[in-house]
Amino acid sequence: MADHPAQSFDTDCMTLTRFVLNEQQKFPQASGDLTQLLNSLLTAIKAVSSAVRKAGIAKLFGIAGEINVQGEEVKKLDVLANELFINMLKSSYTVAAMVSEENEKMIEVETEKQGKYIVYFDPLDGSSNIDCLVSIGSIFAIGKKNCDGTPTEKDCLCSGRNIVAAGYALYGSATMVVLSTGNGVNGFTLDPSIGEFVLTHADMQCKPNGKKIYSLNEGYAQYFDPAVTEFLERKKFPKDGSAPYSARYVGSMVSDVHRTLMYGGIFMYPANVKSPKGKLRLLYECIPMAYVMEQAGGLATTGEKDILDVEPKSIHDRCPIFLGSKRDVEDVIDLYSKHKSG
Ligand code: AHM
Ligand code: MG
Repeated sequence: MADHPAQSFDTDCMTLTRFVLNEQQKFPQASGDLTQLLNSLLTAIKAVSSAVRKAGIAKLFGIAGEINVQGEEVKKLDVLANELFINMLKSSYTVAAMVSEENEKMIEVETEKQGKYIVYFDPLDGSSNIDCLVSIGSIFAIGKKNCDGTPTEKDCLCSGRNIVAAGYALYGSATMVVLSTGNGVNGFTLDPSIGEFVLTHADMQCKPNGKKIYSLNEGYAQYFDPAVTEFLERKKFPKDGSAPYSARYVGSMVSDVHRTLMYGGIFMYPANVKSPKGKLRLLYECIPMAYVMEQAGGLATTGEKDILDVEPKSIHDRCPIFLGSKRDVEDVIDLYSKHKSG
């Protein structure tokens, strides 16, 4: 007997939109604004994914401001991604202000379009990897407005404890969105044939004792804090005769964090004597990744403090970060306290 055509199809698949709607039902007082916001964000992510996949043929690589054969200005991928995020979020009527890695100042929203959320994002992270076709991503966090009227830049300085949702999109061998709305972490893979994100990784967990992997730019070794140097020494030359750790570093935060979430281990971008606060930005890189990691049972620290407890002083503040499996992050915390007291 021939297979029923529906058998090769999941006719009841859990799309991201459906998942978020289900989550919303758990809060009878919810207005649906967060669902609407996430839908707009997903539209931007799908468009960025499509642009990333077409980048070579559509000549989206390289420097912004080039003129294409039609005489139109060609936008660099990160400029395009930023415009998509801003335009889709503004038109969701749920956002009061935005902070983007690409904009020096807070992005204002017209009064009549304002809603109750503030969105922080890096529209295309890992941009140095674009031209050589290595995976890149988008990172976002959503906070609630904590003031009356139009927010100022100061009103956008919220710590990770005030975040209501965060996640990232990875444009890798497939496009995936990893999302937490404060109730665990779920991963959705884009099915390009239907243009929907489908739940493929339910309740993601960062194993407390995951694979033995450390991930950082070791080229800066001469500038590291003594705690980081000692951590690496211990992992590369274990005194108990166990196997040494493997090194993996893509140089795209989303890829490195996603691998850490999937396999375990530790991702690090420490402070160093040259960059006393590290390189990565607190509001739209460190906080969203720390939020996801903690929701998945992992940890994220500056070495001395939980990332989610760090109070930003300005919208583009940087912060050292160590995140991943509890075992490894706790080792870093112990070494920081040892070197501080000793
Ligand atoms: P970007 O926001 O300019 O793309 O920089 C952020 C990226 C991260 O994705 C990655 O973790 C880091 O920079 C890599 O930096 P480095 O080249 O110093 O190792
Ligand atoms: Mg970035």
